[in-house]
This record gives sequence, C-alpha cells and structure tokens, in this order.
Amino acid sequence: MFPIEKVRSCFPSLGRIVGEREAVFFDGPGGSQVPSSVTDAMSEYLLRHNANTGMSFATSLETDELISEVLQACADFIGCNDPTEIVFGQNMTSLNFQLASALSRTWKEGDEVVVTRLDHDGNVGPWSLAAEWSGATLRKIGVNREDCTLDMESANEVITERTVLVAIGAASNLSGTINDIAKIVEIAHEVGAEVVVDAVHFAPHSLIDVSEIGCDFLLCSPYKFFGPHQGLLWGKRDRMKELPVAKLRVATEELPFRWMTGTQSHEGMAGTMAAIEHIAWIGRQVSGNPHLSRRDALIEAYGAIEEYERGLCLRMLEGLGQIEGVKVWGITEPNRVSERAPTISFTHPSMCAKEIAEKLAERGVFVWAGNFYALELTEALGLEPEGVLRAGVLHYNSMEEVDFFVDSVAEILR
Ligand SMILES: Cc1ncc(COP(=O)(O)O)c(C=O)c1O
Repeated sequence: MFPIEKVRSCFPSLGRIVGEREAVFFDGPGGSQVPSSVTDAMSEYLLRHNANTGMSFATSLETDELISEVLQACADFIGCNDPTEIVFGQNMTSLNFQLASALSRTWKEGDEVVVTRLDHDGNVGPWSLAAEWSGATLRKIGVNREDCTLDMESANEVITERTVLVAIGAASNLSGTINDIAKIVEIAHEVGAEVVVDAVHFAPHSLIDVSEIGCDFLLCSPYKFFGPHQGLLWGKRDRMKELPVAKLRVATEELPFRWMTGTQSHEGMAGTMAAIEHIAWIGRQVSGNPHLSRRDALIEAYGAIEEYERGLCLRMLEGLGQIEGVKVWGITEPNRVSERAPTISFTHPSMCAKEIAEKLAERGVFVWAGNFYALELTEALGLEPEGVLRAGVLHYNSMEEVDFFVDSVAEILR
C-alpha cells in the first residue's frame, strides 16, 4: 500500500482551502509542491551555514561540505558513479543553452542537429540556435498524431551519418508520452551522434538511470520533483572536461565547477538534497527497510510511485473518457499506461481550455491551459493558439482528488 496519508502530511500546501474544500494541486508539471523537509533544509542552511565557498572558516567549510554531499545525492538520483559529472544551474533551460553554446563550438557547416516535435521548447530552442550559430542544419523527428508517440520511422530517416546531436525528451510535459530513449540512443550512437535527454517531466514519476539509458547528457529540474527552483545537468566526464564552456578567466577548470557560473544557490542545493531524501524516505517506508542505501531506496520509491500514479492515471482516463466530446491527446488505452506519465491533456469542442481551467480554479482545482512551451507538439496537432487543458498527477495526489476533478469537468461541460 502506498502511504498516501503520510506523504500528504509532508506537504503543508496541500491543506490549503479554496471555497469549502482542500485545493487539488494538479499543476505539478508546471512545478510541484514542496515537503517541509525541503524548506527546513533551506532555512537551516541560510540561518546557520550561509557563506561563499573555498575558505577555511566554519561556514565556508560547511558550504563546501554541503556541495559535495549534494553532488553525491544527485549522482545517486540519476544513477551515475561520478558526482563531479553533476552541474547545478538556474533551471534546465539556462543549462541547456550553456550546453548548446559549448557543443555548437565543436560543430561545422554540413553537420545536422536533431530535435523532436514532442519536446518542450527548452530542448528545441537552444539546439535550433546552436545549429544556427555553427552553420549546422536542424532536423525534426515527427510525432504520430493519434497517440502522441514519436514517429520512429521519421527518427530512422532523420538521424543520419551527418547527425552530431539528438535532443530528446524522456517524457512529454503535454501528452505524458514516455519515449523509448534507449532505442534513440542506440540509433544515434550507431552514427556517432551524441544524445541530450530532457528528463524534466520524467523525474518526478520514474527512476532516472543514465547508465541504462546510455545518453551523453541529461537535464532535469528539482522544482518538478519536490525541490526548489534549480536545474541539473549531467554529462560524461570526458566531454564535460573538454567542452569549450563559457567561463571566466578566474574561474576554476575543476569539474563540475568549470560549468557553474558565478555564485550558486547553496540554499537551493540544500533543498534539492532534501527533495531527493524525501523520495528516498518513501522507498524506505514502502520497503519497510530503514537501512536501504539512497540509490536502493530511490529504486523502491519509484517502483511504488509508478504503481500508485498509474492507478490514478487509469481512473482519470476512464472518467474523462466517459464525458461526451472530451478528446484526450496521447495514449489512452489502459494496457499501455506504462508508456505514459500521469499527465493528461484534453480539449472539448464546446469550451476552450482556458475557460475550463478558470471554472476549475473557482472550485479549487489547479490546472494549466495552453501549450506549456510544448509548442512543436501543439503545432503538429493543430492545437494552436488555444492549446489544451492539462491535469498533472503526482505522488501526493489522491484518488478522491481525481474523482472530484472528473466530476467537476463533467459538470462544467454539461
Ligand atoms: C519537459 C520539460 N522540459 C524543460 C522544461 C524547462 O525547465 P526549466 O523551467 O527548468 O527551464 C520544462 C518546464 O516546464 C519541461 O516540462
């Protein structure tokens, strides 16, 4: 049994009242709620250990220690062995621009860069600009409109001997589609191209394992997995060491700090570590083994989270499927639920997404309407400019919330 009541009690914001009932937070894909352990860690750092790095006085030493602990926690989180391959930054988009600018300086005219029509613009825009800067050509992998999956025929066609980089999302923040990243990595590596994975939407739902995926770079954002507003970049050591990243002359060449421009958010790092510990705590709860290593606890946690979230996802798909006119964009077959994250987007012919979202907001249901920067996809599906209504389920949501949401949507559209 998933300890939903215990989990919910970690998140004070879930007790917020709108009207006469607790608000329903289905806005997780835009940013998750935060357990109090995360804010405790951040305030503990700021109130007692706050300093810049690299000096021999107590708070500076404590800050250095915090950074090495957080790098190790993040290495455990994404499944890499070397914590110095982890880079912190403001958010995924800024880090991806930084990576794109470094990689673009190694490309030449005639090279090709591949993005997908399923990706968030944070994993399209930087590569489109990088291609422009280097004289490379940008190519796009298409999507299957009927279920919002990647068109693998198009992938096989677009990735060629000229490809230097493939940028792909692990999971779509609009349709929830989980991509077969390992397959794309295989195709790309066969022609000698590198692969950048955007795991921002994947990270709160499923375990990241960079060694299993086999990619070259991966990005995610702690604020989507119960932490503060930060971004994380992982890259293979040899590449991170040599890439011509933009840095100050006075800044160190040491990894990962050659990638970390200026002074970082140390309090954010403390919060990110607590967010990872929150997920590990779930693993120790569900396994009944308080002594599990952090990585093993994360493996247990994500097994339980996936199972729990799939139950909620199936209920939501079933409920929405019974409302006349609702068109869910993405995989809807119950037997394919493992191919998607519990992020459900729909449209209705009689009311635009924004209006449905406003009516839900009045009832205390927090959802998003629009394209959420997954512009390639909404354009491919012909859904601009209105976009879709998106409800994103996370491990702190309950079946009762799903039922209330479905009933509310049915009532609004009646
Ligand atoms: C799939 C995906 N990729 C990238 C981003 C951008 O992340 P950040 O806000 O950390 O730049 C988002 C944000 O919503 C996202 O959902």
